[in-house]
Amino acid sequence: MCGIIGAVANTEVTPLLLEGLQRLSYRGYDSAGVATITATGIARSRAEGKLQNLINKVANDPLPGHIGIGHTRWATHGGPTENNAHPHASDKVAVVHNGIIENYQELREELAARQVRFESETDTEVIVHLITHYINQGMTPVEASRKTLARLHGAFSLGIIFKGEENLLCAARQGTPLAIGHGKDAMYIASDALALAPLTNQICYLSDGDFAVLHSSSAEIFDASGNKVERPIRTSAVSAAMVGKGEYRHFMLKEIHEQPEVLGDTINALMHPGTGAVYLPEMQIDFAKINRLVIAACGTAYIAGMVAKYWFEKFSGLSVEIDIASEWRYRSAPVEKNAAMLVISQSGETLDTLEALRLAKKSGYASLGIINVPESTMAREADAVIFTKAGPEIGVASTKAFTTQLATLAALALHAAQVRGTITAETQRALTAHLREIPALMAEALHAEEAIKTIAYDIHTARDILYLGRGTMYPIAMEGALKLKEISYIHAEGYAAGELKHGPIALIDEDVPIILLAPPDALLDKTLANMQEVAARGGKVLLISDAAGVARARDTAAWTITMPACDPFVAPLLYSLPIQMLAYHIAVLKGTDVDQPRNLAKAVTVE
Ligand code: G6P
Repeated sequence: MCGIIGAVANTEVTPLLLEGLQRLSYRGYDSAGVATITATGIARSRAEGKLQNLINKVANDPLPGHIGIGHTRWATHGGPTENNAHPHASDKVAVVHNGIIENYQELREELAARQVRFESETDTEVIVHLITHYINQGMTPVEASRKTLARLHGAFSLGIIFKGEENLLCAARQGTPLAIGHGKDAMYIASDALALAPLTNQICYLSDGDFAVLHSSSAEIFDASGNKVERPIRTSAVSAAMVGKGEYRHFMLKEIHEQPEVLGDTINALMHPGTGAVYLPEMQIDFAKINRLVIAACGTAYIAGMVAKYWFEKFSGLSVEIDIASEWRYRSAPVEKNAAMLVISQSGETLDTLEALRLAKKSGYASLGIINVPESTMAREADAVIFTKAGPEIGVASTKAFTTQLATLAALALHAAQVRGTITAETQRALTAHLREIPALMAEALHAEEAIKTIAYDIHTARDILYLGRGTMYPIAMEGALKLKEISYIHAEGYAAGELKHGPIALIDEDVPIILLAPPDALLDKTLANMQEVAARGGKVLLISDAAGVARARDTAAWTITMPACDPFVAPLLYSLPIQMLAYHIAVLKGTDVDQPRNLAKAVTVE
């Protein structure tokens, strides 16, 4: 999974490609490369590590050319070395690829039998050699590319350029997104419209199976059957401005601090301006008519779905099944009548979630997406969409996208309860009022940051950390552990507090800090009893609660973080903040790359 970009223009393209790659870095950042066509052949530059290494390399050794392709990589086949970095090339063709070629082994063997020598360990290189082989047989570059595409299995998008063709860029999409940008005397391709924002806002998206032939002043698109087709060109609303860190050291910290504001935007958009009640006039799913809601998502978005299950079941009586998208799509879950599929995704591009959505639609489910990126594939394909208003999230570890997903799910659960007649108007008003308090409560909760920094110092050397919670705090415990793992590389687990005695209690000693999420809800006494069990075994507890909860446990807890008092309904939103801040400050103390942690990527467009 990677980001790809390409340009065929009447000007030098390398600077444009490099800027585009900066905007695509969220898709992978373990190596990068560019290739152009010059009068003498293919020029190529690649570098291991962050994009800056490539930028430095190109500054010393510029790549001329009016046509080129670029790539930022998240390694799948072959380690993140310069040799495995894209573009891959022969003397006749250069290719950038996002996705996976599933039958590459078979193709590699076929090519090796023809004495083709491979330079990398990637699946991509077979594409280069197949196209080259067909060109050597006398086919034109376009014919050779189409013939090659017909032999590839898997999900991929491609950009291809050819020696001697200074005005021809071929592109293809099968499963992973690809946008075409129409510029002035220039055509572009990119994995998303954001990469093309400084160049053009006239964007069309290829459909699965499409093959495009681009010249600087024209674009022809052919569908999977080879018929020439038109794909609508839309004016993209994505801003050309690069999102900056402002006064903050990291995007993640900035995004944590943006939460009061973006939560306000998200919640206001879900409320009736007059009555203040949850108001979703365009909701196409009739929650009164469905018996079951299936939620599929990945990573942090999956955890948001876990919280939603508690809300939907409690308030609307709707039975909810939540599954990891990569599991749901392969486990032959029975298709139920009158069920709806809800997908949750920041990027709207995560391949497993997208395929779960497609499978659900094919199986007859009504589909709904909670998505942050408006121009994403899921936003285009779901029957109904609610957009979170988190704005661009750059830090790989999700923070504000998560809490805006939670707010949207909370409002949706109240909407479902309202149409199903399971809560009174009065209860709905009271719960909505609690939701509206969230931005202010979050602003207050951010004041705990100094205290959290001190605690982070005390525990940043731990090898393992356990997070515990009950009810909606169980998924938040999982999210706390996930955040910490992602950015500090400390091993952490999130457990249901009641499950402690069924295994994790064996891990407890004075070196394994326990983080207990205990808002004052109906389960507080039980959670505090779990704290006693930990303390009795020498474990050190960090208690996160409000002032009343902290007062009850002050003698037992080694550390405490005090949150503003809130209704238990909205506690998952508020209690997300301290666990985000804790993970952030621990990671800073450990000196990791907070915004681009090792091995991860922001949008995962491979299985
Ligand atoms: C990656 C990111 C996570 C994110 C997950 C799902 O693993 O690193 O932060 O939660 O993908 O992404 P999505 O865009 O579908 O929410």
